Amino acid sequence: MDRSKIKKLDAEYIVHTYNRYDVVADHAYRATITDVNGKEFIDLCSGYGANSLGYGHKAWLDAVKAQLDQVQHTSNLYYTAPGPQLAEKLATRSGLCKVWFANSGGEANEAAIKVARKYGNTLADHKKNTIISLKKSFHGRTLATVTATGLAEAQESFGPLVPGFVHAEVDDAAELEKLVKQYDPCAFLMELVQGEGGVHALEQSFVDKAAELCEKNDILFIDDEVQVGIGRSGTLFAFEQYGIKPDIVSFAKGIGAGLPIGGIICGPKTCDVLVPGDHGSTFGMNPVACAGANVVLDTIDDAFLSAVKVKSRFIREELASMKKVTGLDGLGLMIGIDLEGMTGAEATARLLEEGVLTIPAGDRLRLLPPLTISLEETCKALAAIRRVLD
Ligand SMILES: Cc1ncc(COP(=O)(O)O)c(C=O)c1O
Repeated sequence: MDRSKIKKLDAEYIVHTYNRYDVVADHAYRATITDVNGKEFIDLCSGYGANSLGYGHKAWLDAVKAQLDQVQHTSNLYYTAPGPQLAEKLATRSGLCKVWFANSGGEANEAAIKVARKYGNTLADHKKNTIISLKKSFHGRTLATVTATGLAEAQESFGPLVPGFVHAEVDDAAELEKLVKQYDPCAFLMELVQGEGGVHALEQSFVDKAAELCEKNDILFIDDEVQVGIGRSGTLFAFEQYGIKPDIVSFAKGIGAGLPIGGIICGPKTCDVLVPGDHGSTFGMNPVACAGANVVLDTIDDAFLSAVKVKSRFIREELASMKKVTGLDGLGLMIGIDLEGMTGAEATARLLEEGVLTIPAGDRLRLLPPLTISLEETCKALAAIRRVLD
């Protein structure tokens, strides 16, 4: 189908919750997408961070195709192998206990919120159910996760929102302590590296204080690793670099490598909170998505993570030497760029013309390349970025 026909159908029949860029993807390999008219784009967006292994990763494709041939779906009424295998890997490598599977990040955080509410209402030393999240945070588009999100533009027009959520200032430990006294929360919900709000890695001292408050006050620490998790930070989970142990970690995006999957990993306090009948998801633990995700986790070993760190250092050093770049934030291959005289949105539009796909985050320019991006693709993309930012 030609591009004008595709765009016409999209305009006529799709509910427009996204403004699309003028790229009509036809096929893709590694970190390069080819448009239907043959133009190539180096993808430093990787499907909002979801295509962790890039495009056409052979072992992932083989596993997904084999599982499709075997059994594509059964519902959670029956056993299949890939989900429990994946859960064992996630629990072992996170040092936590059990996994509940969903299909997206929003659904994962919704589950985390329900676990925290049930824990606070029925299991904590006294009843409590307020959740403190952060300003500029993003946790999803369901009503509860939109309420937890600290971006007003995501909430406008959708009131009344869900009661029992409070937003704290980013990196303000004193305020967080005050809010704990005032609201007696059952949980904190935080992205250790905020994504949509502008790619900001929380300060270590703030995270330390949050963890200390959790310990002292029986507050659950929910670590939203939907964007930064599964290797993007340079460790499998970003919490490893902060030296904390969350009670719940939510994940999605990168673990699917392009298929929809998400979920939560629960620690000792939270792993038995939900019981049959409490929660569910028809496609949760889908064997095809889990078969692919098993390959993702098997691929992201120590050598792979070292390579992510090397790529991150190289890209950051190059970016730091460009004239319009005034600051860098984020962790690993989740990179936020402060620009002089240009917004992230303007830079994204200019880079598109140069054949590089990026995304804005707040006023910043954001890079979320596939973790497997090659040196050749990286250098080509950096040369284009230099043309725009130098
Ligand atoms: C940190 C974080 N949490 C949750 C979500 C929501 O994930 P999904 O779009 O898969 O529902 C996102 C999406 O960008 C995210 O970045």
